[in-house]
Amino acid sequence: MGKTSKDKRDIFYRLAKEQGWRARSAFKLLQADETFHLLDGLHRAVDLCAAPGSWSQVLAKHMYEPLSEEDKKKVKIIAVDMQGMAPIEGVTQMREDISKESTAEAIINFFEGEKAQIVVCDGAPDSTGMHDFDSYVQIELVITAISIATYILEEGGSFVSKIYRCDKTSKAYTQMKRFFKDVCVFKPSASRNSSIEAFVIGRQFCLPEGHKLCNLTLEWQNDPSTWIEEFTGYPPAVTVPFVGYKGEWDSDRTYGMTIMCTMRLCRNH
Ligand SMILES: C[S@@+](CC[C@H](N)C(=O)[O-])C[C@H]1O[C@@H](n2cnc3c(N)ncnc32)[C@H](O)[C@@H]1O
Repeated sequence: MGKTSKDKRDIFYRLAKEQGWRARSAFKLLQADETFHLLDGLHRAVDLCAAPGSWSQVLAKHMYEPLSEEDKKKVKIIAVDMQGMAPIEGVTQMREDISKESTAEAIINFFEGEKAQIVVCDGAPDSTGMHDFDSYVQIELVITAISIATYILEEGGSFVSKIYRCDKTSKAYTQMKRFFKDVCVFKPSASRNSSIEAFVIGRQFCLPEGHKLCNLTLEWQNDPSTWIEEFTGYPPAVTVPFVGYKGEWDSDRTYGMTIMCTMRLCRNH
């Protein structure tokens, strides 16, 4: 879909163009990393729903580009999306639907017995304009990403996923809390306040005792949310701490070119 003139006036859209990121979304992962230091010293990462590739660019920039030629060989970054994208050095691409079991298996095989240190997912369905439906599909994508993560994350690993805040969000939080010791919701300044988008961040991945990785279709055994939802029609309300990012730029404002230049000049002096 073409960009509207409002999109083009957006500060992060302009910064992305200027700095060579494929999408303004890059700043959302950059701000998460700045806040939580998620990418420090990592070698193995999965980028789910990756096209056009700005998050993969961020992963490559932190995990691949600074390394020596010898150390680059140890880096494994895989980007998966139903849509194709231009190649990124240091990133292997897979054009597949993440909700297919065969895709999850292919991702697992890519790591050849090793485990990923981080799984990120910026997945969103094509908007139909029907908010309830879009949110439902988005939350199912998050659950799929968590499920894939349970197979491929190493103990102590991290997980970042876009999440739409809606009446089904608790369903994803419930699962996050089962598998991560530290869970929060992060709102980068690159994500508009007016948007229901936020990012759920899980750190210190740990499979619960007795948990059997039995299928990729996400109906985990003893899932407490399943039966509560069956009776009430809603998943149990689960809350997680909220962390905001206050940066120099605000995605809800429009800046004139002069302001951008002046702020940059001030910074350089
Ligand atoms: C917002 S874009 C991702 C932007 C990307 N993180 C970046 O920074 O360039 C959402 C992506 O999710 C992908 N997607 C949605 N559902 C998917 C699925 N089931 N399997 C794979 N990709 C999916 C879409 O094809 C789309 O490219």
